[in-house]
Amino acid sequence: MILTEAPVVTAALEAAVRAPSPHNTQPWLFEVGSDVIGVVLDEDRVLEVCDPDRREARLSCGAALLNLELAIAVAGRSCDVEFLPEKDRPELLARVGIGPRHRASAAEQRLAASIRVRYSNRRPFASTPVPAGARHAVRRAAGDEGAKLVLLDEVGLLEAVAGLIRRADHLQTLDDRFQAELRAWTRESGGNDGVPAYAGGPRPSGGLLPVRHHGESEQAREFERDPVVAVLTTPTDGPLAQIRAGRAMQRALLTATSLGLSASFYSQPMEIPSARAVLRSLLGENAHPQAVFRLGYGFPGSTTPRRPVGDVLRIMR
Ligand SMILES: Cc1cc2nc3c(=O)[nH]c(=O)nc-3n(C[C@H](O)[C@H](O)[C@H](O)COP(=O)(O)O)c2cc1C
Repeated sequence: MILTEAPVVTAALEAAVRAPSPHNTQPWLFEVGSDVIGVVLDEDRVLEVCDPDRREARLSCGAALLNLELAIAVAGRSCDVEFLPEKDRPELLARVGIGPRHRASAAEQRLAASIRVRYSNRRPFASTPVPAGARHAVRRAAGDEGAKLVLLDEVGLLEAVAGLIRRADHLQTLDDRFQAELRAWTRESGGNDGVPAYAGGPRPSGGLLPVRHHGESEQAREFERDPVVAVLTTPTDGPLAQIRAGRAMQRALLTATSLGLSASFYSQPMEIPSARAVLRSLLGENAHPQAVFRLGYGFPGSTTPRRPVGDVLRIMR
């Protein structure tokens, strides 16, 4: 079997599936040939209400792609990536060729080590400020992948965007289809996909930002007063920009993790087209918002389950 013959492939796929995805849908499949891995968007796992355009699914696959590349690097091999390599197969988002020997850089090792440690932390963060050096590093990580990370507190936009998040959250609360989809992907116990109830945060008692409701929340809690909210933007939009945005998002999240920071997403305004348009106008017409998340020093939590690699693998003969 290819997998047992090539531990680098096993390591790469185990890292890939640790990527974040909306409602932990894990919308990916991996086509494995000899020294090549195709990253495929799994249409059966797209959120039809939240993500009818597959934008969030492409971001998730882009994040899985970066994990894959980092794991290949620390396994001592180089790789090259071809984006959207087959015109008539738009679901084949990337093809990763595994190349000759490679000595992983310290940065690759640091980011790869963060893949297993990263998780979405929806709980209140400590009030400890995020230092300028850490903000710079996370911003630079997104920049290295061709995206821009706008930290809202630095440009005075926080209140406007928080208002947009609250309004979008309210609309989703009233939307029966959205609620049904959210419930379908929330797990009270067991399962290797969907969001386990234990990963949901408490409801905030006041404060700027709402928390997406996964299962039964605990009692309401006070969240940090000055949240650090970041919006990831790209200069263009469309499938390629979204795959690249996923890599940028993941590089920023792994960099944050490596610096001891936690993150949690606020995609409500990204999932309602009119709200995304308002967010875009707030940030400038050349900035296509792709992801919104909060950064800070979290208290320890736990990672969420994933489907085993064998379930997401297609061996190509
Ligand atoms: C594009 C994208 C959008 C997401 N949006 C939200 C969100 O709005 N609210 C939320 O609580 N989590 C959101 N998440 C986080 C996922 O629920 C989370 O990644 C998934 O459950 C897996 O858990 P983990 O991040 O702890 O590994 C989002 C993730 C991605 C990749």
